[in-house]
Amino acid sequence: MVIAALVLGVLALIQCGDGRRWEEAPPSRPHSVTITEFGAVGDGKTLNTLPFQNAVFYARSFADKGGAQLYVPKGRWLTGSFNLTSHLTLFLEEEAVIIGTKDPSQWPVVEPLPSYGEGIDLPGPRHRSLINGYNLSDVVITGNNGVVDGQGSIWWDWLQSHELNHSRPHIVEFMNSQQIVVSNLTFLNSPAWSIHPVYCSNVKVHNVTIKTSLDAPLTDGIVPDSCSNVCIEDSSISVSHDAISLKSGWDKYGISFAKPTSDVHISRVDLRASSGAALAFGSEMSGGISDIHVDHIRIDSSSKGISFRTTPGRGGYIAEVVVTDVIMDSVRVAIEFIGNWSSHPDDHFDPSVLPLIDQITLQNMEGTNISVAGVLSGIEGDPFTAICLSSLNFSIAESAASSAWSCSNVSGYSESVFPEPCSELHDPSTNSSICFSFPSYSALAVA
Ligand SMILES: *[C@@H]1O[C@H](CO)[C@@H](O)[C@H](O)[C@H]1NC(C)=O
Ligand SMILES: *[C@@H]1O[C@H](CO)[C@@H](O)[C@H](O)[C@H]1NC(C)=O
Ligand SMILES: *[C@@H]1O[C@H](CO)[C@@H](O)[C@H](O)[C@H]1NC(C)=O
Ligand SMILES: *[C@@H]1O[C@H](CO)[C@@H](O)[C@H](O)[C@H]1NC(C)=O
Ligand SMILES: *[C@@H]1O[C@H](CO)[C@@H](O)[C@H](O)[C@H]1NC(C)=O
Ligand SMILES: *[C@@H]1O[C@H](CO)[C@@H](O)[C@H](O)[C@H]1NC(C)=O
Ligand SMILES: *[C@@H]1O[C@H](CO)[C@@H](O)[C@H](O)[C@H]1NC(C)=O
Ligand SMILES: *[C@@H]1O[C@H](CO)[C@@H](O)[C@H](O)[C@H]1NC(C)=O
Ligand SMILES: *[C@@H]1O[C@H](CO)[C@@H](O)[C@H](O)[C@H]1NC(C)=O
Ligand SMILES: *[C@@H]1O[C@H](CO)[C@@H](O)[C@H](O)[C@H]1NC(C)=O
Repeated sequence: MVIAALVLGVLALIQCGDGRRWEEAPPSRPHSVTITEFGAVGDGKTLNTLPFQNAVFYARSFADKGGAQLYVPKGRWLTGSFNLTSHLTLFLEEEAVIIGTKDPSQWPVVEPLPSYGEGIDLPGPRHRSLINGYNLSDVVITGNNGVVDGQGSIWWDWLQSHELNHSRPHIVEFMNSQQIVVSNLTFLNSPAWSIHPVYCSNVKVHNVTIKTSLDAPLTDGIVPDSCSNVCIEDSSISVSHDAISLKSGWDKYGISFAKPTSDVHISRVDLRASSGAALAFGSEMSGGISDIHVDHIRIDSSSKGISFRTTPGRGGYIAEVVVTDVIMDSVRVAIEFIGNWSSHPDDHFDPSVLPLIDQITLQNMEGTNISVAGVLSGIEGDPFTAICLSSLNFSIAESAASSAWSCSNVSGYSESVFPEPCSELHDPSTNSSICFSFPSYSALAVA
């Protein structure tokens, strides 16, 4: 058994740390085109939606000849939504800025995602993202620290003043795609989320900086959604809501679409989430989330540190998660499990469809200026199980009003946790072999 687990673990590791796939130089493209060849003007005023669409259309003709690079030189390139194509590298030179236009008609409206059934902000259709990939493979978005600026503030105002007609767009969205790399760039001011791979596999996000205004409503950083084999590394994310959020669909739509998020590795990231969580699981998790490894993260000035969210009616599962080597400073609630996150696509959800939350191991964390160490609220009649805490040390801020831990409807195991956790985490039937020997945990230990 142990040997099998180790072998499985090693395989899982190889898939992610995969020298052959991830560490090798990005694909070099034998053909290159420059956006100015298609009439683009980088003055920050001229709308370049058509040049981007035409350049990608032209680049498509090289797809079976090794692919092409679309080069964006220094300049301010205003554009509406455009699609990418397979075997393409979009390269933003230093001081190249792609700017999303504030004209909503340049962000066409499309059907909601099948695993969500409805838009996230409003029922019905949603705006297409700025940079889109549908059914692609082998696409790189990179540069010499170029910038993509979504100019989201106008969308935030529309959301807050109820003038939005359809759910907000994201900056980058890949759907049904594989072998995707996003690296060496800065993403600013997304209308909603910055990078959203959905129904994808083999996705790598490396060395990116993501920022939105800390008082923007509900902006997330990276949102792997019903994706497998995802690596997020060496990045810095500071947003208003969740910095990294793992999802897999919403209620009955996500359950019937049945596409989990699995085999995700997150390493060496700095996270800040002013009103959400630095690292969030759910609340949309109806397709399931499992086999997740997170290590070496820093969380600063955030409302929540690590948050697991679900609700009756959601179905799905969050299981086999390991988060280790975390440093937190100035976080209101370090660890949160919520079993009553209220949002639903409509009122017709079936509250008897219950989620499973099991085998979540959190270890080696140091926190300073923490107000609450943990709030763990499971679902009555559907407790969250095998919540395992090991070597956590949170210094609670002197001003903190409430108790360090509060637990209900959860069970688990704890060792070397300071302050002393609630009795639910000394559950006699949860032993350390449940906590520290599932295959994804062993993979991490081998690392
Ligand atoms: C990102 O930059 C690093 C350092 O310059 C380089 O090694 C790497 O290949 C770049 N990534 C891509 C996808 O171009
Ligand atoms: C982008 O791709 C979608 C899906 O294939 C398609 O409906 C849309 O027309 C494309 N947009 C452009 C400008 O090519
Ligand atoms: C993408 O592929 C799926 C499944 O093969 C197909 O149903 C869908 O129409 C394709 N979408 C686009 C935009 O090509
Ligand atoms: C990160 O990207 C910047 C350019 O955006 C580059 O200068 C730097 O070398 C990259 N670092 C790594 C570790 O790839
Ligand atoms: C919403 O629709 C109304 C009526 O068509 C239109 O006047 C308004 O500009 C639209 N708002 C946005 C943000 O698209
Ligand atoms: C402690 O954290 C709170 C936010 O939770 C912050 O307002 C305060 O400035 C922090 N104090 C120090 C000394 O960092
Ligand atoms: C969820 O439960 C908590 C405490 O158990 C409570 O404070 C909160 O109001 C509840 N939220 C909803 C949306 O029911
Ligand atoms: C927890 O960390 C503090 C420093 O922040 C240290 O003084 C204390 O000894 C640590 N406690 C344990 C039990 O490791
Ligand atoms: C389970 O949670 C409910 C609130 O959702 C609470 O009323 C109840 O006391 C909890 N049960 C246990 C055994 O803690
Ligand atoms: C741990 O618990 C599991 C399930 O309750 C049990 O099968 C196993 O024998 C226990 N292991 C140890 C070392 O107690």
